This record gives sequence, C-alpha cells and structure tokens, in this order.
Amino acid sequence: MQWYEDEGFWVDYAEVMFSAARRDRVAGIVAESPLFDLPSGTRVLDLCCGPALFAVPLAGRGCAVTGVDLSPAMLERARAACEAAGVEVRLVRADMLTHVEPGAYDVVLNVFTSFGYFPSPEDNVRVLRNAWESLAPGGRLVIDMMGKEVVAGWIGRPQLVELDDGYVVQRDTILDDWTRIRTDWTLVRGGTAREASITSYLYSAAELRAMFESAGFADVTCHGDFDLRPYDLGARRLIVRGTRPGGAEATR
Ligand SMILES: C[S@@+](CC[C@H](N)C(=O)[O-])C[C@H]1O[C@@H](n2cnc3c(N)ncnc32)[C@H](O)[C@@H]1O
Repeated sequence: MQWYEDEGFWVDYAEVMFSAARRDRVAGIVAESPLFDLPSGTRVLDLCCGPALFAVPLAGRGCAVTGVDLSPAMLERARAACEAAGVEVRLVRADMLTHVEPGAYDVVLNVFTSFGYFPSPEDNVRVLRNAWESLAPGGRLVIDMMGKEVVAGWIGRPQLVELDDGYVVQRDTILDDWTRIRTDWTLVRGGTAREASITSYLYSAAELRAMFESAGFADVTCHGDFDLRPYDLGARRLIVRGTRPGGAEATR
C-alpha cells in the first residue's frame, strides 16, 4: 500500500491538515482570490477534495462542484460539511490516476499539495492529462502546492503543531537531489506516538510549468499565492494554472 492510500494517515492527521482555523482561512481565500471569481454555474472539479474545505464555499458561491477523493473517510467528512453548510456537492470516490469525465468541467482544482504523490513520474503527468480531458475547451486547471523554491526557504527547520490534546512534529528530508521530499510526522497524544512518513515529488515552478505544457495546457502561469502574486522571493506557495486550448476562458 502506498502512503496516500492509508486512510488512517488522513484520519489521524486531519486535525492538523483540516483544522477549523484552516477552514476559515480557505473560506476567506475563496471569497477574495481572483482564481475563484467564477460565474454562478461554473462546473468545478475539486480533485482530492478531502473534507470539502474548498468545495463548500465554492458551492456556496453558486458553482456546480464535484469533489473527488480516494478516501471514504474524507468523503464522509465532506458529506457532513456540505450538509452542515446547506450546500450541494456531488461527491465521488475515485483515484486521480484514473478519474476522467471528458469535457465535463470549466475548472479543475487540485489544492493544498495533493499532487506529485505517485512514485512514477509518468503517473503524475497522467493526472495532468486526465484533468485536461475532463476540462471543456477553454477550461482551466489550477494546482496549488509547496514549490521547491518555497521549501528551500524553510527546509531543515522541524515544525511543531500544538493540538488540544497533544502535538505533531513534522520533519522534512530532501531526496534524490531535490527531486522528492519525505516528511516524517510524529503525532503524540495521550502518551502514545504515531509515526507516519510521506514521500512526494517536489517541483520547481519551471518544472511544473513544463509538465503542464507537455500535457497540452496553454497560457501556463505561475504564482506565489492565491492572491496571484508573482512566484518570486515573496512566494508562499506554488500555484500553476493553465488552459485547455480551444474555447472561451473560464476564469479571469
Ligand atoms: C493534502 S489533502 C488535501 C485535501 C483538500 N484538497 C484540501 O485542500 O483540504 C490530500 C487529499 O487527497 C486524497 N488523495 C490521496 N491520494 C489520492 C488519489 N490517488 N486519488 C484521489 N484522492 C487522493 C486524500 O484522501 C486527501 O483527502
């Protein structure tokens, strides 16, 4: 089993990754980012939706949202979040490696470092090709992850996240000459420690842009955060977006 298929990992670390504070931040991002200034009725695929932190506010803005995730536990959390918020989101259990709905979407989102999980580089490119196929002509793919240059700014500093009843220590190790990153997590709670280790690809902006282009995307741009700041020394994340050629643009 690959680490990303381990449902226990997502459940155990949910409090760190999908906290109420992050949910509130995401609601602000969806309200303010030019990326999400989408006309009502825009068809959005939230690929690797997790507990619907983006899907809920997007549906609240009138988008027709489908959330895809591999984890039944995350989809159940997404369902509960949609119910609590009173919004409709179509939720589908599927693997991003194989999920394709030809021409069905105006926007495909893959956010919060949900990309680069597959050990084979070709499989990660395949996810981009799947997204291209699932987009209508003129539709856009947006990927948000930690860029190589951003990670280089804080690598080597272990991070400590305090929880109500414990804490998490996160340590990063760079592998294969900056090709991949392994993050070791230790969750200490109630006198027990739970270890997890995740390894994923780390891309520079130029590398991810080239992958978008090789998958057929045009007008590929790189940004340093959801406010679409440049990807430079002030970048906090790596956001890459590209358009499936052949139609009117879906977003500004
Ligand atoms: C880091 S979380 C991000 C979730 C969400 N995008 C967010 O912003 O909170 C990654 C999500 O990807 C899902 N996932 C992992 N591997 C997957 C795969 N091969 N196909 C679909 N979903 C996957 C996990 O279950 C998890 O919910």
